[in-house]
Amino acid sequence: ALIPVILSGGSGTRLWPLSREKFPKQLLSLIDKDSLLQATVCRMDGFQDIQSKPPIIVCNEEYRFVIAEQLRVMNRKSTILLEPVGRNTAPALTLAALAATHGGDDPILLMMPSDHVITDTDSFHAAVLKGMSQASDGNIVTFGITPDTPETGYGYIQFGELADSDEAVYHIARFVEKPDRLTAQAYLDAGTYLWNSGLFMMRASVWLSAIGKCRADILTACQTAWDLGSADGDFIRVDKNAFEQCPSDSIDYAVMERLLNRNSELPAGTVIPLSAGWSDVGAWDSLWEVLPKDDAGNVSKGDVIMNACNNTFAISENRLVACVGIENIVVVETSDAILVVHKDKTQDVKLIVDQLKQQG
Ligand code: GDD
Ligand code: MG
Repeated sequence: ALIPVILSGGSGTRLWPLSREKFPKQLLSLIDKDSLLQATVCRMDGFQDIQSKPPIIVCNEEYRFVIAEQLRVMNRKSTILLEPVGRNTAPALTLAALAATHGGDDPILLMMPSDHVITDTDSFHAAVLKGMSQASDGNIVTFGITPDTPETGYGYIQFGELADSDEAVYHIARFVEKPDRLTAQAYLDAGTYLWNSGLFMMRASVWLSAIGKCRADILTACQTAWDLGSADGDFIRVDKNAFEQCPSDSIDYAVMERLLNRNSELPAGTVIPLSAGWSDVGAWDSLWEVLPKDDAGNVSKGDVIMNACNNTFAISENRLVACVGIENIVVVETSDAILVVHKDKTQDVKLIVDQLKQQG
């Protein structure tokens, strides 16, 4: 069986002021009426070839009611695991794997971030189908995107030899998480690297064994937090004290980077190229890219008027926003904050959020 695991813990600071700590980007309806999380929950719908069970959603307990409500309106069942604190993706996936193996099963997990866009569902399903056989064989499967910029916020996967002579499925030669700009440029030029999409597939037992070998401290802390946890209505709560003791690390640093050592104790890594309109909508410019534009490249949402603008992205939540004669600018209006940022600087919105945090 296949169980989707949806991680919903990040706060998406680069999409401030729409994305807030109390209401992060995956819960917002940025593309259409569904939130990114709701779209993720529906991503395996209509796929006849694979029987997908209800997902396991791992999130901070602060978001439990919003998430439960977003599932309720779609009439969806799911297991919601609550983290008392964020400890990054490796512990979150470990908790999901413990939940999935609880009844003695060993399902294949399809780990999906809750804050991505995938526009071509059929291609996504085809890639997942290829991943099923690789994951059944005990491999950790990744999905790679052909890079077009030396993005430093992604993992880079060097693909090696074909892992399956009939299919575009490759062994991972090397996995490098978030390289610096020069290294990223070199990988782009080499033409043998793909971006890590952040989607992973593996048997639950394969993950538990890999994290146990790479970070026994994380596995132990998660196991204790799970064992001492309790069901609370629709939610499963892990033990607060035990989980607070858990070290923080990502799947990528904790496990994926180590697979390159060809350490025979660890599972093999596989990469499947994915061409499915993937975007991680990390910042305003990438959200802009996936939205429909007018002839001059403008996008307006809400009460916006534009005159003689090019490549302008304006969102209004409350008040009328008027733009005249501007180019390559993002304007986001909310009830308590207005952002105006150049298209090339949207990554730096994070700095404003840091500054605001410091000011309290
Ligand atoms: N439950 C839970 N708890 N979820 C978490 C936590 C946590 O503590 N931390 C992050 N998440 C969720 C985020 O909400 C997101 O959906 C997903 O896990 C990935 O975490 P990010 O923090 O967004 O990771 P990243 O974007 O820096 O890097 C990852 O994704 C890139 C592609 O978007 C890596 O896998 C990179 O290698 C990859 O290129
Ligand atoms: Mg991300």
